[in-house]
Amino acid sequence: MAQEQAETKYMGIEQENESLTSSLPTREGWWEPFFLLQGCWLSTKMTRSVMAMKPQFHPRHDDIILATHPKCGTTWLKALAFTVINRSTHPAVASYDHPLLSHNPHDLVPYLEIPFRDLHPVTELDEIPSPRLLSTHLPLTLLPSSTSTLSRVVYLCREPKDVLVSFWYHIKTVRPDILIEFDRSFELFCEGFSFYGPVWEHYLGYWKQSKIEPEKVLFLKYDEMAAEPTKHVKMLAEFLGVPFTDEEESRGAVEEVVRLCSFQHLKSLPVNSQGVTERIGTDNSLLFRTGKVGDWANHMTVEMAQKLDCITEEKLRGSGLTF
Ligand code: A3P
Repeated sequence: MAQEQAETKYMGIEQENESLTSSLPTREGWWEPFFLLQGCWLSTKMTRSVMAMKPQFHPRHDDIILATHPKCGTTWLKALAFTVINRSTHPAVASYDHPLLSHNPHDLVPYLEIPFRDLHPVTELDEIPSPRLLSTHLPLTLLPSSTSTLSRVVYLCREPKDVLVSFWYHIKTVRPDILIEFDRSFELFCEGFSFYGPVWEHYLGYWKQSKIEPEKVLFLKYDEMAAEPTKHVKMLAEFLGVPFTDEEESRGAVEEVVRLCSFQHLKSLPVNSQGVTERIGTDNSLLFRTGKVGDWANHMTVEMAQKLDCITEEKLRGSGLTF
């Protein structure tokens, strides 16, 4: 009976979504038609997923949300936040049973909108004990709960040129059947027509909120985190309400977290080199490419870089956010 009710509810949502998407602006150019949902470009499947998820998500006052635009270091942030929060039960120090050694970070910190919620019920999130550590690629405007009902949001952004290069590789690998030349992806990205884009609006939403509610929204940059990981892990712990004690710091607990979650270490683990993420359904190895800052220089001409830099500067002008 419960199953029947759930199915009827889903069919209702599915029909509702069909009619809602039909009224949204749509555009082709990537692997399937994208829809513009409240200023954010989403693939057809993701649009339906977000629409199915939003009314069914039950926010809790102590939820912690890790928010990112795709390819900004989500996997890294999930590993770091999970390790920092759970370090009393799972110390990072040379333990042989730390969850990160046997699980990809995405299997430890679920997304709100992934897997596709029109097919995979969002109710799985209700079963997670509080405080929940959740993640999303959604812009602030599409979050299913406002920052006033959430405990905290950690947002990680990245230099846009590196985001595009990382994303292009990701799509090329996940969808080898779709041939999207880098130059074409570049043009679409510059137009603001990209998955979860425009990227600048995505950044600005959280950036502005972090200025309004600094105790609720922590805004981080991949590039800065890569340059000074220890400083950022301490900042993250403090923001999440679990600061490192002097004793922990003196015995090198912060550096242990950095090492456990480092690109080289996570990439080298069998779970990440050979495993498949249960929730996302892709090879974990896809999530670990170069992990470098500035790889765009190997893919863009000077003119391309200047063009994207100019757009970024113009879009972010006056906000105080720079790259
Ligand atoms: P590159 O493609 O530039 O190598 P996301 O997790 O949001 O999909 O972002 C993926 C990017 O983060 C990839 O960048 C990936 O290599 C990098 N990455 C993954 N794990 C990382 C880690 N532990 N430390 C630093 N970068 C990491």
